[in-house]
Amino acid sequence: MILVTGATGTVGRLVAERLSGTGPVRLLVRTPHRAPVRGPGIETVGGDFDDPGSLREALSGVRSTLLVTTNPLAPAQDENFVTAARTAGVAHVVKLSAHAVADLDATDLVTRWQRDNEELLRASGLQWTFLRPRSFMSNTLSWARSVREEGVVRAPHGSSRNATVDPRDIADVAVRALTEPAGHAGRVYALTGPEAVTPARQTDTLADLLQRPLEFVELTKDQVLRELLRRYPAPVAHALAESAERGRHGSKTQVHPTVAELLGRPAHSYRDWADAHLDAFRA
Ligand SMILES: NC(=O)c1ccc[n+]([C@@H]2O[C@H](COP(=O)([O-])OP(=O)(O)OC[C@H]3O[C@@H](n4cnc5c(N)ncnc54)[C@H](OP(=O)(O)O)[C@@H]3O)[C@@H](O)[C@H]2O)c1
Repeated sequence: MILVTGATGTVGRLVAERLSGTGPVRLLVRTPHRAPVRGPGIETVGGDFDDPGSLREALSGVRSTLLVTTNPLAPAQDENFVTAARTAGVAHVVKLSAHAVADLDATDLVTRWQRDNEELLRASGLQWTFLRPRSFMSNTLSWARSVREEGVVRAPHGSSRNATVDPRDIADVAVRALTEPAGHAGRVYALTGPEAVTPARQTDTLADLLQRPLEFVELTKDQVLRELLRRYPAPVAHALAESAERGRHGSKTQVHPTVAELLGRPAHSYRDWADAHLDAFRA
């Protein structure tokens, strides 16, 4: 049995879709009766990282699991999950972490939280695999509304390159780690796209695919922070702003061959991702 957490989210949902039909799969969701993905062999259980009892039940009989937590202000969530996984006799935890964990100069709250989460698993006695993706290409879905309505992309650091990764590639790697019997325990996978691209070039790619002109408007540091504060609690917003600043200084450009090496095919480019998600950007 494989348990997928974060199953209504970006990566978990893609993993659940890919696992459908491959064997027994359980999806952990917060809202009972909400099935993010249906398919042969898939069951859905209610559960919450803040409720240890629900995790113990969800993990019963589970051999391997995808762990996706998202709240840096709630470190107990990973602790609850790891404790429940040990109690349930889970063999292998595939943890969605972050590339910045490996960046020595990354000391923001979100990165420190992910580092601590990795340390927790290293010390747990469980087998683990860490997925460390760079920024998701799907983050540009936050541009969709202004692209649709105004033909404008507003983003910081138009000329900063970032080796963004397609969540479909993260999911494909996660499925390998969850389903292949050996070879992934104790491995750390740095996951990027095939090249580092700038927001200005991503805008050009969207314009080309949409066959309409798009304007790129660079946000100031203050505007970025204001926007983040609208969407996240202040400590998280400040951490994300700090991370964006690091990107401006070129800390997110390194490309890794991991996706191609593990999957035997090239990592998706931003153009590939945009082409598959173009409807979200169409006027
Ligand atoms: N976005 C990036 O560029 C990026 C880059 C590197 C690493 N990461 C890492 O990727 C992870 C986020 O992955 P994602 O984008 O796939 O997630 P996501 O789309 O934000 O989805 C979060 C999932 O977690 C579930 N969840 C939230 N709180 C929960 C709780 N208390 N108990 C149980 N489930 C809960 C949500 O369920 P509901 O539907 O009920 O809310 C949802 O299914 C984070 O750890 C982040 O640090 C992201």
